[in-house]
Amino acid sequence: MSLTVLYPGSFDPIHLGHLDVVDQARALFGKVIVAAMHNPGKPGGSIPLEQRVDLVRRCVPGDVVVEAFPGLAVDAARHFGVDFIVKGLRTASDFDVEQQMAHTNHAVAGVRTVYLPCRPDLSFVSSRFIREIAQHGGAIDHLVPAPVADALRGVHQRPVQSPPDEGR
Ligand code: PNS
Repeated sequence: MSLTVLYPGSFDPIHLGHLDVVDQARALFGKVIVAAMHNPGKPGGSIPLEQRVDLVRRCVPGDVVVEAFPGLAVDAARHFGVDFIVKGLRTASDFDVEQQMAHTNHAVAGVRTVYLPCRPDLSFVSSRFIREIAQHGGAIDHLVPAPVADALRGVHQRPVQSPPDEGR
């Protein structure tokens, strides 16, 4: 049985943890629709929505649909006719936030949410810290796909350092 799921997020920018969630959702459910959305709790992003969508499209497999969607995640879920929403969980604090959103989305529109555990080796990766590191020219190439690293270099007009040598 193949299901269609919505993966909403701000993706500012998309990183390797997000891509892992997309991979897991494709393997478990079938069709994945990524909706790049506005998070009113995160006003200080760095990449315009249109560019975020373009970057997500360039980084996910070709069968994944990627769209910008204004408004509510539940309206996106209805619009795309998905079976449910998927979200990645890194930490207990993610759970607290996501659980409240999941219950709210179910209460207002009957839309269910399924959580996927992030890969442990990526559970520390966050868009906010990636933006901060890139702003100061730090190393991000091991945290984001190449098109995102290039885009952030363009945004901040700074050379970005290399990741640390794991062997040292
Ligand atoms: O990647 P993020 O920032 O954690 O994603 C959060 C996002 C965009 C999924 C969330 O803010 C959201 O659903 N925004 C759309 C507006 C909405 O539906 N608000 C009601 C949430 S219960």
